[in-house]
Amino acid sequence: MSSVAVVATTICFATIFPRAFMASKRTEPITSRHVVVVPYPGRGHVNAMMNLCKMLSAASPNHNLKLLITFVITEEWLELIGSEEKPPNVSFATIPNVLPSELGRVADKVGFVGATQTKMEEPFEKLLDRLQSPVHIIVADTFLNWSIEVGNRRNIPVASYWTMPSSVFSSFYYFDLVVQNGHFPFELSERGEERIDYIPGISSIRLADLPSLYREKDQRLLHLALQVFPNVSKAQYLLFTSIFELEPQVINALKQEFLYPIYSLGPMVPYFNPEKTSRYTTSQNDPQYLQWLSSQPPNSVLYVSLGSFLTVSSAQMDEIAGGLEESGVRYLWVAREDTARFKEKCNSRGMIIPWCEQLKVLCHSSVGGFWTHCGWNSTMEGIFAGQPMLTLPIQMDQTTISKFIVEDWKTGWDVKTEAGGGDLLRREEIAKLVKRFMDLESKERREMIPRARELQEICYRAIAEGGSSKMNLDAFLDNIAGH
Ligand SMILES: *[C@@H]1O[C@H](CO)[C@@H](O)[C@H](O)[C@H]1NC(C)=O
Ligand SMILES: *[C@@H]1O[C@H](CO)[C@@H](O)[C@H](O)[C@H]1NC(C)=O
Ligand SMILES: *[C@@H]1O[C@H](CO)[C@@H](O)[C@H](O)[C@H]1NC(C)=O
Repeated sequence: MSSVAVVATTICFATIFPRAFMASKRTEPITSRHVVVVPYPGRGHVNAMMNLCKMLSAASPNHNLKLLITFVITEEWLELIGSEEKPPNVSFATIPNVLPSELGRVADKVGFVGATQTKMEEPFEKLLDRLQSPVHIIVADTFLNWSIEVGNRRNIPVASYWTMPSSVFSSFYYFDLVVQNGHFPFELSERGEERIDYIPGISSIRLADLPSLYREKDQRLLHLALQVFPNVSKAQYLLFTSIFELEPQVINALKQEFLYPIYSLGPMVPYFNPEKTSRYTTSQNDPQYLQWLSSQPPNSVLYVSLGSFLTVSSAQMDEIAGGLEESGVRYLWVAREDTARFKEKCNSRGMIIPWCEQLKVLCHSSVGGFWTHCGWNSTMEGIFAGQPMLTLPIQMDQTTISKFIVEDWKTGWDVKTEAGGGDLLRREEIAKLVKRFMDLESKERREMIPRARELQEICYRAIAEGGSSKMNLDAFLDNIAGH
């Protein structure tokens, strides 16, 4: 069992990049196409858009396509990612920041989201006017509600790119149904356990598991999010980062709703260079945390990462740190800005670091579990690595994703439920839970592992030749070639 993850992973990278850069298989003349992409200016969204560009550009030679991709970001994002690795045919173009960045990201979420919907359109259009070569297609984050009209006005097709689960798309898209059925607004403590089953494609879900915007007292963000949906039917494509087999009913229901192609393209795995990844069992050049992992027994380490921006309260962090220590379980914790604070309390069984290459860690054979905040990206990586998960969702789509893991896929446990609930989870409870979760002999765990492997298989198949995501990517590239 121990080496399964590593072996499988190696096979998998080989299937993703069989000969990604091989000579084109057809003999038709080469077509050049100019794609303008515009992400929502937030970390997860910018990364997801860049991942899409990497996939498109890696696969384009097989379609006899020469892609030129213009990646439109705000100035502050150019500063942040301008020097990162990107495919040769992606070039950056900037528009002004929508708001001063600090204010935007932390202090005034509502103001920031609002500004992305009202302040980006005009500079984006000016930019389109300035571009040298004609634009064949625009790929825009679904949250940029103005993008579809811009494309329609100019006769440029628009692919709307949704970076959360498809079910979350549907739970917003069908907001009116929830209202009509008298389930909005609702009081979490009174009605959170009530279940609804009328959102097309979503079998049954507790109100508490709907995206957290549904229950926030301040409804302004929800209303901004809802600005996005009336226009979606006027796009030409809808792209998902999910995998068809993970949410087939939801995606099929949406296919009936929209009369244009809907392509699920997940998992959007990193642009791994096969040479670089094949050696990550250990080498002297590997970062210390990978070397440390390699010195631990198989499946023994719990990898903990609770997200980047939406942090857990500091009292709760202390309990988590105490609980991990008390459990006696080996752990690798990415604690970001809290690293220094927790490092001194950490014994020889644990390691606390500010950052890591998460997918490599998750795929390492010493790692046997993932404690996650259920960000979509992290969850997809956890699935890809075949890991069972402990879930501690904080907000947005994370509540819904935790429900998938715990209730639908049965590949994880909800920390709040298992550790006694309440506002503050206590270290003794956390310690017990972590110990139970990482007990390789326990019956519960042995039932969970095969299901986690099944999900992993779904991922592998989706991106392999003939798989759903691979075929969708090919179809989309053919569409691009046809515009
Ligand atoms: C990238 O652009 C250059 C110059 O336009 C072109 O020669 C090359 O074929 C392109 N590569 C891909 C992968 O599209
Ligand atoms: C986008 O959302 C904003 C609100 O943030 C609204 O004022 C604007 O009309 C919307 N644009 C479109 C094209 O729907
Ligand atoms: C998660 O995000 C990282 C950083 O952008 C990216 O490299 C990786 O491909 C993403 N993983 C998935 C499964 O989307």
